[in-house]
Amino acid sequence: MNLLEEMAFERQTGNGRTAGFPAARPRRLRVSPQMRVMLRETSLSPGHLIYPLFVTHGHGVRAEIGSMPGVYQLSVDELAGEIRSAAGLGISAVLLFGIPAKKDPIGLENFAADGIVQQAARAIKDAHAEMVVITDVCLCEYTDHGHCGILNVGGPNRPELRLPEGYVLNDQTLEILAKVAVSHAEAGADIVAPSGMLDGMVGAIRGGLDAAGFNHTPILSYSTKYASGFYGPFREAAQGAPKSGDRRSHQMDPANVREALRETALDVAEGADMLMVKPALAYLDVIRAVHTEYPQLPLAAYNVSGEYAMVKAASANGWLDEERVVLEILTGIRRAGADLIITYHAKDAARWLDRI
Ligand code: PBG
Repeated sequence: MNLLEEMAFERQTGNGRTAGFPAARPRRLRVSPQMRVMLRETSLSPGHLIYPLFVTHGHGVRAEIGSMPGVYQLSVDELAGEIRSAAGLGISAVLLFGIPAKKDPIGLENFAADGIVQQAARAIKDAHAEMVVITDVCLCEYTDHGHCGILNVGGPNRPELRLPEGYVLNDQTLEILAKVAVSHAEAGADIVAPSGMLDGMVGAIRGGLDAAGFNHTPILSYSTKYASGFYGPFREAAQGAPKSGDRRSHQMDPANVREALRETALDVAEGADMLMVKPALAYLDVIRAVHTEYPQLPLAAYNVSGEYAMVKAASANGWLDEERVVLEILTGIRRAGADLIITYHAKDAARWLDRI
């Protein structure tokens, strides 16, 4: 019998204590706001949120990103104020992306002591030492070709490998990633977050950090990162769009979830301290799968630029209630199994959560 048949049966027979009515009434538990709060299964608080920041050269720069209303490229001198306001709202971590002064084939500013992210990390630590500074470790914002690694150009360097022209060379790039991570740690980064989806990146960075004496600097690996259309607005924000081609030779196919577990297993074996699934919304099942398979490690989900832009655009048109849907989305990501959420909504959400 299905539920409707059961109810009809109860009505006819008087079976059960309250003839004519179902005994189970889930609505009893939703009668009052207090009861609803008491019985809420999933928590969401500002401490769960990581606030991404785009840092650029110059002075007094606060340049809004067209496709991400409310998100700005900030110069280093603007950071102290931004950090204090985030901290005042209960946000305890930021994720830094840098826009360099100059780009070149390997991205030299990426590991320069006075590079933009290095300056930003120092400024944040000076202004508010308790703020946890996470730095994105990748090449794409720094290379003139916009790819996440050194490219196989002008003829393959090992012809026997038959790698295509323009292929991101894995192992040569790992050496640079390790240098970048060390230089971020030297500047004060508390956590480094490699986002390139290259094979062996976590192990290479762990080795580099340890050799430089940073054995206490954790690695938050972008362990499951898909080749996604939802990064579009970010590429405007960070000026890191590939000049040609795409990132499908290293980022994952959106159709795959078994592969996500394999990628995660490798990163765990290489010493990742925290894991990530990115993007979040089209990948809630992946968040759940990684959370279930690796309950020992903290898991972050990245609520990416395109996900932010959709909500902002619809809200600006009056088609969605921004506050409601943002809190619903963030709660959904937590419910799927994420411990932490990287989100451009962080400050707004923290403000709204404060009122609940
Ligand atoms: C790479 C990086 C990207 C994002 C974070 N780190 C871009 C990409 O992989 O193409 C995207 C984040 C977002 O869309 O919000 N450094």
